[in-house]
Amino acid sequence: MTMRRVKFGVEGLDAMLLGGLLERSICALVGTYGTGKTTFGLQFAYEGLRQGEKVIYISLEEREELLRATMAQKGWDTEAFSDRFYLLKLDPTDFNLAISSIKSELPALIKSTGASRVIIDPISLFEGLFEDASDRRREMFRLIEVMRDEDCTLALTSETDVANPDGSKYGLVEYLADTVILLRYIRSPGLTEVHLALEVVKMRRSAHSREIKPFEILQDQIMVYSEASLF
Ligand SMILES: Nc1ncnc2c1ncn2[C@@H]1O[C@H](COP(=O)(O)OP(=O)(O)O)[C@@H](O)[C@H]1O
Ligand SMILES: [Mg+2]
Repeated sequence: MTMRRVKFGVEGLDAMLLGGLLERSICALVGTYGTGKTTFGLQFAYEGLRQGEKVIYISLEEREELLRATMAQKGWDTEAFSDRFYLLKLDPTDFNLAISSIKSELPALIKSTGASRVIIDPISLFEGLFEDASDRRREMFRLIEVMRDEDCTLALTSETDVANPDGSKYGLVEYLADTVILLRYIRSPGLTEVHLALEVVKMRRSAHSREIKPFEILQDQIMVYSEASLF
């Protein structure tokens, strides 16, 4: 395990992570709908592309054309990276195909492409394919074990649990991941707007920041207000 850092590509967040994610580590971005999981995932992908890396983005939710349109709207020239950006949409309703794609084809694709960043957005749709909780746990442990052998840094997004908005939908990724970033809405009595805030709740082998920082999703970037405090 190296201690080299991989920049996430979101300025204030990289500072909270002491420079970025640890190379070859696994990061979970946990938040409910609209908190920016996909936006963070795309930003992480784009940072890799900017640095000349090969990147795989597995989308279980949004269609490829829409993700490309989102990237274009941000002013990113995805055409320029087309030879090293692998954007794949999986249909989560096709149980066998989605499972075999992620379990066996993804590791093969990482090896054949030499991708150093992989994003699965959202992993909770993959987890939801398993009706039985023990099957789900076993398959997630296996997937994570397989991914740990790959020479890449992995970002997984997850929806939250209905009963616990600070936890992932199935309560597994926060245990399996090395880093957990929680994205939340802040609704306080004095505020007339809903704000977004993020926190690094876990980062193995790092004395990371535990602050809760407000952020905004702008047209072309994510702004984390490092100096601002919500309290
Ligand atoms: N171009 C944009 N300009 C401003 N805000 C945006 C833009 N694109 C997305 N957003 C904000 O981000 C939210 C969606 O973020 P998204 O990353 O899709 O969330 P999630 O994947 O967690 O559901 C939208 O609800 C909107 O508030
Ligand atoms: Mg999303």
